Amino acid sequence: MISEKMNTALNKQVNAEMYSAYLYLAMQAYFQRLNLKGFVNWMNIQVQEEMAHAKGLYDYIQERDGEIILEAIEKPESNWNSPLEVFEAIYKHEQHVTALINQLADIADETKDRAAALFLQWYIKEQVEEEASVSGVLETLKMIKSDTHALLLLDKELMARVFNPPVIG
Ligand code: FEO
Repeated sequence: MISEKMNTALNKQVNAEMYSAYLYLAMQAYFQRLNLKGFVNWMNIQVQEEMAHAKGLYDYIQERDGEIILEAIEKPESNWNSPLEVFEAIYKHEQHVTALINQLADIADETKDRAAALFLQWYIKEQVEEEASVSGVLETLKMIKSDTHALLLLDKELMARVFNPPVIG
């Protein structure tokens, strides 16, 4: 059994991860409009990862005999001015998600919920990886500026990303 406070916070995080998937789906559509197939592939994997993050939290709430309460998912942005602007937005968003995960870990500490603290470690580590991977692309985009040839080379590189379903917990 989990505390009501933790139950509520975990449900909110399910919503935040679903919103992340929705936001990245909108970004995927943006790259589809630009015909940048590698970026489309990268975003597609990002969407699947976010869905897996949401499902991991959902499964954990169930496992701890909590209650699932699904709220509406906010409408995401749908347009950006450049790939650089998209990745700046992703980086900012991932930093926000990291802050949310840290808040969850704080609640686990406050409520002395050892199991939740242990479970959340996976998400804490995942956020380090997420921020690093986004920051890598972002830094390259900053160097590229308006060099179309370099952008297409990056697009080719992003095509190589594959989805490995995460094992959460
Ligand atoms: Fe689920 Fe990108 O954090």
